[in-house]
Amino acid sequence: MGAWHWLRLAGIAGVSALTLVHCFWWPPPNERHMRHEPLVPLTESSAPSVSVSNITPATFSQPQGEPGIGRRKPERADIGVGLQSLQTLQGKNLILAGDSNDRQFFRFLCQHLTGRFDGVLVVDKMTNEEPGEYRGRLTWPEQAKTLVCHDEARNASVVFLFHYGLFSLPPQPPWYLDFAKRRMGTHFLGIQGKAKIVPSTDLAKFIWPQIIQQHLPSRPLLLLVQSSMWDAFAVLESLTGKRVSQMNKLDVQTLYSVVFSHENLTHWGWLQRASEFIGMILEGVHSQGMLATVLWRTNPNCPALPEEGSVTANALSGLFADAVRAEILQGSAPWGEICLVDWRKNLEIHSPKQCDKHHYTKEGYAAYLSSLKGCVLISPLAEQKVEYEHVPCA
Ligand SMILES: *[C@@H]1O[C@H](CO)[C@@H](O)[C@H](O)[C@H]1NC(C)=O
Ligand SMILES: *[C@@H]1O[C@H](CO)[C@@H](O)[C@H](O)[C@H]1NC(C)=O
Repeated sequence: MGAWHWLRLAGIAGVSALTLVHCFWWPPPNERHMRHEPLVPLTESSAPSVSVSNITPATFSQPQGEPGIGRRKPERADIGVGLQSLQTLQGKNLILAGDSNDRQFFRFLCQHLTGRFDGVLVVDKMTNEEPGEYRGRLTWPEQAKTLVCHDEARNASVVFLFHYGLFSLPPQPPWYLDFAKRRMGTHFLGIQGKAKIVPSTDLAKFIWPQIIQQHLPSRPLLLLVQSSMWDAFAVLESLTGKRVSQMNKLDVQTLYSVVFSHENLTHWGWLQRASEFIGMILEGVHSQGMLATVLWRTNPNCPALPEEGSVTANALSGLFADAVRAEILQGSAPWGEICLVDWRKNLEIHSPKQCDKHHYTKEGYAAYLSSLKGCVLISPLAEQKVEYEHVPCA
């Protein structure tokens, strides 16, 4: 039985015996808001019902102006490992830096926050006045455009920024360059009209801070970063020498024969690259005087079919997630300060119907949102007050 139901009972019957229940479940009256129906029918999916864990955010220290959900002591094993206090979306800019799944989630989230499909601002060009190799007119193809939406009710904005994976960081492995060249015209940044393979660290240092400053109100940042799909598929294509969509039966057999372990990640310097990327993002935003909290997300097991690359992608997504979880638990820099948006933990893929190739259904993005809510408090909107008599809490 939900808190809302209890409150209705309390209001209708005026039963003071329920006060205890009410005070336990519900924040004080000045912070109490009506719960909104989700704007996206979250259960709608072609997939069979899947368990999406319902995460209750752990409120370690009460963020100002946000409803408290229940107080308990911090535990290392919490979703918000390493985070001293739960961050609130109110008064922040949330940056989603990742791949096409973050782009799809951006649309899902903006609609959830604002109730609109059409409030998205597209940024596909910019003039960079700063001297250096990225000076001049910068343009982004369709797949890599920056997207922005504003949530005025929460005094917050959300931005999607595309990046090219951790193997774009120097030294770029030769097989990454082959993978990148196949996506030159569809994903890579154009500088004075010429597409170039740009390291994600250069985006973070030279370009993203300018985009954020030009298009967003000045607010502290919540930086959600991830790198999984581009890293996994670059490795996959190194084994077959072609795009996933062009694989034949023999290529799929080849993928089955390759076993990965954490040693592969060490060999590629994957974790070091991730740490370096986070360091560069922070350096970039700090240089513009912006404050930032970093979140990292893991990736679940789509695609689900071997002919779509599941064998390699799922194995690597798992290894990447394990590597990051271990660092966060150990508390080593910069991971000790990072909150894990563990989408992988909250979405088990047991049917190909839960996937749209390497993308997810609405249900999958709803699980991403639940995972995000383990790190970021997204308050219900304030306009509609609860309509029953308030019973004061002692
Ligand atoms: C919006 O958030 C910013 C940054 O947190 C804050 O400075 C500003 O006062 C807020 N504006 C309103 C209208 O609440
Ligand atoms: C992964 O590591 C194993 C040994 O640890 C090695 O045999 C294998 O070739 C590596 N795979 C790739 C794709 O580098």
